[in-house]
Amino acid sequence: MIKRLFDFMSAFLGIIILFPFFLIVSFLIKTTSKGPVFYTQKRAGRHAKLFTIIKFRSMFANHGDSNTVTVKGDIRITKFGAFIRKYKIDELPALWNVLIGEMSLVGPRPDLPDYLLLLQGEDKKILNLRPGITGPASLKYANEEQILMHQDDPETYHYEVIFKDKVKINLDYYYNRNLLVDLKLIFATIFRLSYTVKVNKKIRLSPPDVSSKELDFIKKDFNIDWVASFGPHIYNFEQKLSAFSNSFQVAALSSGTASLHLSLILLGVKKGDKVLCSSFTFSASANPIAYVGANPIFIDSEMESWNMCPVLLEKAIKDCVLEGEKPKAIMLVHLYGMPAKMDEIMKISNQYDIPVIEDAAEALGSTYKNQPLGTFGKFGVYSFNGNKIITTSGGGALVCEDKSLVEKAKFLATQARDDKPHYEHSEIGYNYRMSNVCAGIGFGQLEVLEDRILKKRTIKSFYKKELSTIKEISFLEESEGSFSNYWLTTILLDKGSAIDREQLRLHLEKDNIECRPLWKPMHLQPVFKDCKYYVNGISEDLFNRGICLPSGTNMTKKDLERVVNKIKELYEA
Ligand SMILES: Cc1ncc(COP(=O)(O)O)c(C=O)c1O
Repeated sequence: MIKRLFDFMSAFLGIIILFPFFLIVSFLIKTTSKGPVFYTQKRAGRHAKLFTIIKFRSMFANHGDSNTVTVKGDIRITKFGAFIRKYKIDELPALWNVLIGEMSLVGPRPDLPDYLLLLQGEDKKILNLRPGITGPASLKYANEEQILMHQDDPETYHYEVIFKDKVKINLDYYYNRNLLVDLKLIFATIFRLSYTVKVNKKIRLSPPDVSSKELDFIKKDFNIDWVASFGPHIYNFEQKLSAFSNSFQVAALSSGTASLHLSLILLGVKKGDKVLCSSFTFSASANPIAYVGANPIFIDSEMESWNMCPVLLEKAIKDCVLEGEKPKAIMLVHLYGMPAKMDEIMKISNQYDIPVIEDAAEALGSTYKNQPLGTFGKFGVYSFNGNKIITTSGGGALVCEDKSLVEKAKFLATQARDDKPHYEHSEIGYNYRMSNVCAGIGFGQLEVLEDRILKKRTIKSFYKKELSTIKEISFLEESEGSFSNYWLTTILLDKGSAIDREQLRLHLEKDNIECRPLWKPMHLQPVFKDCKYYVNGISEDLFNRGICLPSGTNMTKKDLERVVNKIKELYEA
């Protein structure tokens, strides 16, 4: 009752005192963009009753969808709108909602009606409160649009992290509210809005790193001839990449996945054939096996390199031979840049005469006994996706010692066009060739590959040194003869660790630091549930306990320190 009286009096006085200010804002809204001064929207109020909230219009009229979250820099927001949103001036007309009893000065923000469905059990208690113009949750997330700006999927982040956290905060307010708390929140809101809050910049897992050196190269030479499917950069890029791959022949293609697909086709893998494949990998290693209609048999990892276990590989081959059908290929992945046990794997491949396709998508620049990965098997594949050690914005390459096979790959990748003046096709082809523009970027990026490897390795060493005090954390290490590009620094939490990997991931995510669990093994993926597998529990265990730390080569020392301090904060709490 006292709160209602306080709300009524404050809203009444507020509207009278602020009236001249409202007139100025209205005038500026009208003169800076077409449309009405006010914006109204249905919101869920007390006891889930719908009411119409009134705000100053901050978006262009008829911008379309008004039910999706807004992020800083949202194109739907007008210039003046951005200003009034920053200082929450757009919310002031809701004083009218307070005056007529639909809202309160302090309380949970009224959400869109759809959000009601997300409230579970005890959370629904917050619906007993009048929604507020400000409140503890609104205060904590005063910079919500800025936080969302850094997310890949703002909508999901809003629901998964912010909304859930807000509900928790509002429930806490529900139990502890009184007039003094409200007064403190009102003053805190006024104080908070009088300065801008700095949001920690997003630290991504492995963003593209294209420096001015490469951009200069591209700019210097860029002309309209570049923008074509074919051109000189493709050839130059292939030549340069060949120098990193034992002078093997190279076909620059549109993606790593396309390169794996063509490798299987070139090996003659067909419908119903068996292909042995690392289980601990990204789905892109296994999907091409399905593209050709073959059946993957997933092989678990060994603990030293986390890659394909030679013991299980041989067991699987022996079983297949006993069943009367030898597998057609081994899809071997070098995960996170770490070389697999090449001596053992190649011995098995030679002994049973089953060709290896090396998925070195993540491992460009890594070596085993000084030999580049990708050059041990029949085919090697690299990826130049945006998150890889070097990028062409999207692309891949197939490498092979046999020139005729690489020529065939290029032929298939360009729609299998026969050598005729007209368009003649005797085989099914694909549109898998890398474009000239991408190859130009790749050429520049190859110039800095060595630097990038050094930086990735420095990042891993930094984490290892700085986190050495946390006994529950261990790192993936090179074994003798292995040299990893450490594309991503990965850590494992001890089995007995009080903190699990999800706790750690969310703790970092709340500070705008992106981390990912290690790859979920293919034999546990719903899409491959009917496939055969040979497991020893290692990849599943790695998935449960492992996490990839931000490893972008453009990270500064400060960024790295931020990640380390945040991890320490959790363990030292
Ligand atoms: C292990 C692995 N294989 C294959 C691929 C596919 O490469 P792309 O994205 O270039 O198709 C990736 C990465 O994306 C990968 O990490």
